[in-house]
Amino acid sequence: MKTEHNKRGSVSSSLSIINTITKIAKPAAYFVLLVLTYTLGYLSHSSSSPSLPPPTLSAPPSPTLSPPPSPRLHVSSPLYRLSDINTTELEPFRVKTHCAEPIPPKNIRSILINHIFDGVSPFTDFPPPHAEEKLLRKKVAGWGSYGAVFENLIRKVQPRIIVEVGTFLGASAIHMAELTQRLGLETQILCIDDFRGWAGFRNQVKNIAMLNGDVLLYYQFLQNVVTFNQTGSILPLPFSSGSGLSKLCELGIWADLVEIDAGHDFLSAWSDINRGYQIVRPDGVIFGHDYFTAADNRGVRRAVDLFAKVHNLKVNVDGQHWVIYPNYIQ
Ligand SMILES: C[S@@+](CC[C@H](N)C(=O)[O-])C[C@H]1O[C@@H](n2cnc3c(N)ncnc32)[C@H](O)[C@@H]1O
Repeated sequence: MKTEHNKRGSVSSSLSIINTITKIAKPAAYFVLLVLTYTLGYLSHSSSSPSLPPPTLSAPPSPTLSPPPSPRLHVSSPLYRLSDINTTELEPFRVKTHCAEPIPPKNIRSILINHIFDGVSPFTDFPPPHAEEKLLRKKVAGWGSYGAVFENLIRKVQPRIIVEVGTFLGASAIHMAELTQRLGLETQILCIDDFRGWAGFRNQVKNIAMLNGDVLLYYQFLQNVVTFNQTGSILPLPFSSGSGLSKLCELGIWADLVEIDAGHDFLSAWSDINRGYQIVRPDGVIFGHDYFTAADNRGVRRAVDLFAKVHNLKVNVDGQHWVIYPNYIQ
């Protein structure tokens, strides 16, 4: 019993010694851990960033990670600023298709009639009986169709071939035909137009007949050319601008003057200018109307300026028209 009691007594005294040691050791261990952490933290900071400048008052170190700097957005001006574009970003906008070698201007009219009209001029046996009574002998309307730019460029370039993209009732085409004849030139004017006008245009330009929902713009254009006695010098290409210009490029039909006056939104103008430029002869000129109109936030102007920037060309202004001389490198 006694031995048992003694054993229990020695065990309990051992336990109390352990308790006392634990009570003293716990805070000491925390203290040692704290000192170690602080020392390690100090050493690692001073060794990993020895050259950091001392913090300044104006830029206190942030306790959290800062987000990457956001790109600068130009929202102050509603107008698109070309100077904001890095020209290296424009590379994807270049159109690099090469057109066929140019064919002689004197062959162009007959080649087109053969390719597009089965060898029969669209003026042959015009007007067809079903349209005749619906046409006016003369119905011409246009926008800036008689601007000084036409005479200025025709005098300067003495064109054999003019391609007009956007013809409507033929006001500018007939004007150019008359100018070339007055100057004694033998010029063919190729008029690319789908002759659809634009949705709702008959509210603006009255008296263009319609047959089963088909507006007779093409026939009225042909009638105007007949009335002004220009059937030998004007030839329509009744297709979308993309399709018509691509065909000319494919056939090697190049022009001394290319006039752009079809769709006035940025995308249409951009596409027409790029395609039109491909068929401009080396000493030719590309020009177009409505550099200043507000349509599509000045879509024509943006397209012209961007195009000139991509090709390092200068945009000249003549009245309401823009004019680019491709062989004039800035
Ligand atoms: C402003 S009018 C042309 C006016 C003409 N240059 C004048 O001064 O008498 C625009 C013409 O472009 C044509 N047009 C618009 N977008 C076209 C496209 N994608 N393809 C072919 N013609 C288009 C319309 O049918 C319309 O006749």
